[in-house]
Amino acid sequence: MVPPMPWYDIYWPWTWWFAGDPVVVSADAGDASDCADIHARAFRRGWGPDEFERLLADRAVTAHRLDLGRPMRATAGFVLSRRAADEAEILSVAVHEGWRGKGLGRKLLDHHMGRLAATGIKSLFLEVEAGNDPALALYRGAGFREVARRPGYYGGGKGEPKRDALVLHRDLR
Ligand SMILES: CC(C)(COP(=O)(O)OP(=O)(O)OC[C@H]1O[C@@H](n2cnc3c(N)ncnc32)[C@H](O)[C@@H]1OP(=O)(O)O)[C@@H](O)C(=O)NCCC(=O)NCCS
Repeated sequence: MVPPMPWYDIYWPWTWWFAGDPVVVSADAGDASDCADIHARAFRRGWGPDEFERLLADRAVTAHRLDLGRPMRATAGFVLSRRAADEAEILSVAVHEGWRGKGLGRKLLDHHMGRLAATGIKSLFLEVEAGNDPALALYRGAGFREVARRPGYYGGGKGEPKRDALVLHRDLR
């Protein structure tokens, strides 16, 4: 469910007017609430600000966000990965619906993968719901390949159909 966010909903339609091109910057715990808002709008089960605060403060997590710059620190999207040895897994990626389809998901992911590769990560994994066409287009375009399928992994709640999960991999070497 999308939580009530009056200032957000008033602010977003106008961001195109005074913001330049969003730039990719590192995200930290101060971005938890913006990331939680975007996540709640993008996914059926949103993660709360507390969950984002914990993840963004975790030293094993690499996080980037699309910064809209002035007049206030605002975020148009984010991506988070957890590192373990020379592998990493993308935990979540989302772009605010008002900024989708403009190449920003690609810009965010390319920057993120570049930073992970620069810190010695060789393998990057993620999980995506089969049928999430925008996400699959983003990942396939970025060089990810399917390595496994988990039948009926998502859904299955009351009146909810089960949906497969795809595990994708990208070699960063
Ligand atoms: C997936 C998501 C991050 C993509 O962000 P975006 O900024 O719209 O992506 P881009 O504009 O950079 O487009 C990336 C690719 O997806 C394609 N695409 C974008 N929207 C699409 C749509 N609605 N249907 C099909 N393809 C689409 C683009 O054509 C582009 O492909 P190309 O590089 O081959 O031309 C965004 O749709 C989103 O936040 N979705 C909700 C959250 C989500 O599902 N996250 C992924 C969970 S695993």
